[in-house]
Amino acid sequence: MAAAPSYARIPIIIIVLLLALSATSASSFSPSPANGSDTDLGALLAFKALLADPHDVLAGNWTGTSFCHWIGVSCSRRRQRVTALSLLDTPLAGPIAPHLGNRSFLSTLNLTGTNLTGSIPPELGRLRHLRYLSLRENSLSDAIPIALGNLTRLEVLSLSFNQLSGQIPHKVFVRLKKLERISLTQNDLNGQIPPYLFNSTPSLKYRYFGSNGLSGMIPPEMLLRSNSLREIDLGGNGLSGQIPPHLFNNTPSLRAIYFNDNSLSSQIPAEMLLHVHKLDSIGLSNTYLSGQIPPYLCNSTPFLMFINSATNNLSGPIPHGIASLSKL
Ligand SMILES: *[C@@H]1O[C@H](CO)[C@@H](O)[C@H](O)[C@H]1NC(C)=O
Ligand SMILES: *[C@@H]1O[C@H](CO)[C@@H](O)[C@H](O)[C@H]1NC(C)=O
Ligand SMILES: *[C@@H]1O[C@H](CO)[C@@H](O)[C@H](O)[C@H]1NC(C)=O
Ligand SMILES: *[C@@H]1O[C@H](CO)[C@@H](O)[C@H](O)[C@H]1NC(C)=O
Ligand SMILES: *[C@@H]1O[C@H](CO)[C@@H](O)[C@H](O)[C@H]1NC(C)=O
Ligand SMILES: *[C@@H]1O[C@H](CO)[C@@H](O)[C@H](O)[C@H]1NC(C)=O
Ligand SMILES: *[C@@H]1O[C@H](CO)[C@@H](O)[C@H](O)[C@H]1NC(C)=O
Repeated sequence: MAAAPSYARIPIIIIVLLLALSATSASSFSPSPANGSDTDLGALLAFKALLADPHDVLAGNWTGTSFCHWIGVSCSRRRQRVTALSLLDTPLAGPIAPHLGNRSFLSTLNLTGTNLTGSIPPELGRLRHLRYLSLRENSLSDAIPIALGNLTRLEVLSLSFNQLSGQIPHKVFVRLKKLERISLTQNDLNGQIPPYLFNSTPSLKYRYFGSNGLSGMIPPEMLLRSNSLREIDLGGNGLSGQIPPHLFNNTPSLRAIYFNDNSLSSQIPAEMLLHVHKLDSIGLSNTYLSGQIPPYLCNSTPFLMFINSATNNLSGPIPHGIASLSKL
C-alpha cells in the first residue's frame, strides 16, 4: 500500500478515476431514455430514411450505431453529440427530414449540391447552436421558413441555387445579429425588398440576392446600418426606379456592387459613391441608366474598378482614369 498521495497528485488521480468511470458507463451502462446520443442517432436515421440515396452513399457508409464515424458526421469528443453534418456534392435525392431539428448540438449543416427536394423544414429553427447553414445547389422549394429566425448564432446562411419562392422574410433577420453572409442568389423570390431588412444585422458583410424576381425600387433605407458591408448583389431582378443617391453613405467597407440586369432607370446619381473608398467592382450592365458617368467616380475609388455598362444609354466622356473599362 503506497503512502497517502501528496496534494499535487490528487487532481491527476481524480482525472484518472473520471476517465475510468466514463469508460465504464460507455461500455456497460444502457443508455437512459433521455440520452441525447440516441436522439442524434434517431435523427440521422430519419434523415437517411427519406432519401433515395441513388449512389448508396448512406446505405454503404451509415451502418452500425457508431454514428460519429459515419461519413459526413462529426461529433463533439466529450459528449458524442453530432456537431456537424457535411455531405457535399453527392446525390441524396429527397426531402430533408424534420427530425434533423432534434440534433440540438449541431453547429454546421452543409448539404451543398445533394439534390434535395421539398421545402426547408421549420424544425431546423430549433438548431440553436447552428452557425453555418448551407443548402446551396439543391431543388428546394416553397418559402423560407420564418423559424430560421430562431437561429440566433447563425453566421452563414446560404440557400442559393434552389427554387425558393415567396418574399424575402424580413422577420427571419431580426434576431440574426451574428450573421456575416447571406446568399439567396438564384431562387424565385419575389416582391419588394423590405426597407429595413438589414437593420438588425450589423456584422453582415456579404449579401447576395441576385437572380430572383425582386421588384419595386431599391429602398433608400436599406443600407443605413451597414458599416461592415463588403459586397452586395441585387443583379438579375426586376428592380426599377432610381438608385437612391445616398444609398452608400454608410458603407465604408464596400468593395463590390452588382446592380446589373435590372430595370433601373434615370441617371447614376452624382453623389452615389462619394463615401465609398474601397470599391473594386461595380456592375451596372443591362440596366436602363442614362446620362453621364459621374466624373468624380474614379477619384473616390483608388482601386481597380470597372463599370460594366455596355448596354446602358450612358453618354458623355468616359471619366479619365477608368482605364479598366476596356477590360470588359
Ligand atoms: C448514450 O448512449 C450512447 C450509445 O447509444 C453511449 O455511447 C453514451 O455513452 C450514452 N451517453 C450517456 C450520457 O448516457
Ligand atoms: C461511401 O461513400 C462514398 C462516397 O462518399 C462512396 O464512394 C462509397 O461507395 C461508399 N461506401 C460504400 C460501402 O457504399
Ligand atoms: C435528382 O433527383 C431526382 C429525383 O428526385 C432525379 O430524377 C435526378 O436525376 C437527380 N439529379 C441528379 C443530378 O442526381
Ligand atoms: C424528433 O423530431 C420529430 C419531428 O420533428 C418529432 O416527431 C420527434 O418526436 C422528435 N424526437 C425526439 C426524440 O425528440
Ligand atoms: C460547405 O460546402 C461547400 C461546398 O463544398 C464548401 O465550399 C464549404 O467550405 C463548406 N463549409 C463548411 C463550413 O463545411
Ligand atoms: C422560436 O423559438 C421560440 C422559443 O423556443 C418559440 O416560441 C417560437 O415559436 C420560435 N419561433 C418560430 C418562428 O419558430
Ligand atoms: C439614349 O439617350 C438619348 C438621349 O440622351 C435618346 O435620344 C435615345 O433615344 C436613347 N436611346 C435609347 C436606346 O434609349
